[in-house]
Amino acid sequence: MAKKLINWTERYSIFYDEIDEQHKKLIDMINELYDSFSRGKANEILEEIILRMIKYTDYHFKVEEKYFSKYSFSDEKAHIKEHEKFVSEVNKFYNDLKNKNINLSYEVMNFLRNWLLKHILVSDKKYSEEFKLNNIKEL
Ligand SMILES: [Fe+2]
Ligand SMILES: [Fe+2]
Repeated sequence: MAKKLINWTERYSIFYDEIDEQHKKLIDMINELYDSFSRGKANEILEEIILRMIKYTDYHFKVEEKYFSKYSFSDEKAHIKEHEKFVSEVNKFYNDLKNKNINLSYEVMNFLRNWLLKHILVSDKKYSEEFKLNNIKEL
């Protein structure tokens, strides 16, 4: 059975299905990375998973940011900054890995896990609560 670093629970729901589905996909990718790493898969395979994760994260952030401007989210700027910071950190990490400056580690995967879960629980919940208060039923 595949090893999981994160188990999705309702606690992570922000009550918009489209976004929850995207968060679940990101969690799946972190779990895939964790499982592959635990099984001692080759660096090329791990890099491929990370690259896929980077691309999907980029897509996901763009979707959220589109809704921020569509619904005039009050904390848009700070939220986008958080996204940008994460993107640059993960890109740096990916390049270091490719250039063999570093190896993947449990610390790195814990960073990904903790960042994503905290971002969902604190920052993403912030916009979803505001949207709900503004009676936005569906994104
Ligand atoms: Fe976000
Ligand atoms: Fe998100």
